[in-house]
Amino acid sequence: MEINAFEAHVFAKMAMPSCKPDACRSSCLPYPKSDELDGFAGVDNCISTVDKVVHVPTKTPDNKPLETISFYDDHYLECQRAFEKASPWTPDLNKWIHTHLGSRVLEKLDSTLPEGGQLKLLGIGSGEGEVEYNLITRLLSKYPTIHNTVVDPSQTQLDLYKDLIKEKAPELDGVQYDWHAKTLAQYRHSSEESGDRTKFHFISALFCLYYEADLYSSLEYLLSRLEPGGVLLAAMETDRCDVMKIEERFQFGADSDDVPLYCFTDMTAHFEKRGVPFAVLNQPDDQRDFDVTAIFDESSREGALLLDFISSVANFRQVAPPGLLADFLSYVRSLATLREGRVLLFYDTDYVLASKPKFKNHFV
Ligand SMILES: C[S@@+](CC[C@H](N)C(=O)[O-])C[C@H]1O[C@@H](n2cnc3c(N)ncnc32)[C@H](O)[C@@H]1O
Repeated sequence: MEINAFEAHVFAKMAMPSCKPDACRSSCLPYPKSDELDGFAGVDNCISTVDKVVHVPTKTPDNKPLETISFYDDHYLECQRAFEKASPWTPDLNKWIHTHLGSRVLEKLDSTLPEGGQLKLLGIGSGEGEVEYNLITRLLSKYPTIHNTVVDPSQTQLDLYKDLIKEKAPELDGVQYDWHAKTLAQYRHSSEESGDRTKFHFISALFCLYYEADLYSSLEYLLSRLEPGGVLLAAMETDRCDVMKIEERFQFGADSDDVPLYCFTDMTAHFEKRGVPFAVLNQPDDQRDFDVTAIFDESSREGALLLDFISSVANFRQVAPPGLLADFLSYVRSLATLREGRVLLFYDTDYVLASKPKFKNHFV
């Protein structure tokens, strides 16, 4: 059986001893040109390396590509709900976001608004809005009127955000919204085309910047849209997070090298390089268990959804070649901790709060 360029690329990435997030930019292999692939032709879907067996993963048994889950459909939401159920600390995290994270944003935000002025907030990849709702309700304690520009490419997510606003209307008095069903790159393009140079006091970009092709350009752009004294809050999984380790190893989500695998430290390294002041805030210590016991039960619907969430592949249990599924489950087990009969992954995220100094000689 011949393998194609992309399959060979994935194999080459997986055969590397390790691709640590903070080293990934330098150590991951670029997408190979077809004339570099001669050595791979004729390889079957199971390849031995010195210390492990790696499966070429990108095709189903009936030769269709593995399809990544999409933010645009309900299946993603079902997977997200399964994750939340398997991470019972999610409500506590939301409280922490409201109290701790919201307070830190207020502390760092160094803008005095003219009387009656609105705080301008830009939400990138806001999703269903739950996290931003928790931040906004804290900001309202100091800034009673807020204009929130929401940018997310998924209309499904935006509709859920609008439902949340209706449900929480009494708490959100004073907040106005405008909606952009766009990716960050599309929003940037349309703002540039229309000459919209609005500056924001607060920009949040949580768990979404890795979907953009160029993280550094995105960060620069967001910094350039901050008012002096404004803050940018961004978050990603850390390199200690087991789900990140799984993603690095299997890379199902990356269908080409157009979108490199970014990690949290790429953001902080960029801020350091650019002399942007920032603070790192780690999620609370007792909120990291991700219970994946159900993925080892073949008959569990919950387990199937969690498998899709972790692998980023739609219907992974049904479509993955059996050898690949076995490898995947075995890798998950190798990372997991067993406690009281449960199989637990470590789900770790960090938040970074970057500030734009109020006075001249700053970075942008
Ligand atoms: C994991 S969710 C995070 C949602 C929310 N920020 C939170 O922290 O709960 C990722 C969100 O990013 C959005 N997204 C995906 N690609 C994007 C892009 N290129 N630009 C902006 N948002 C994107 C998705 O539609 C989804 O709502």
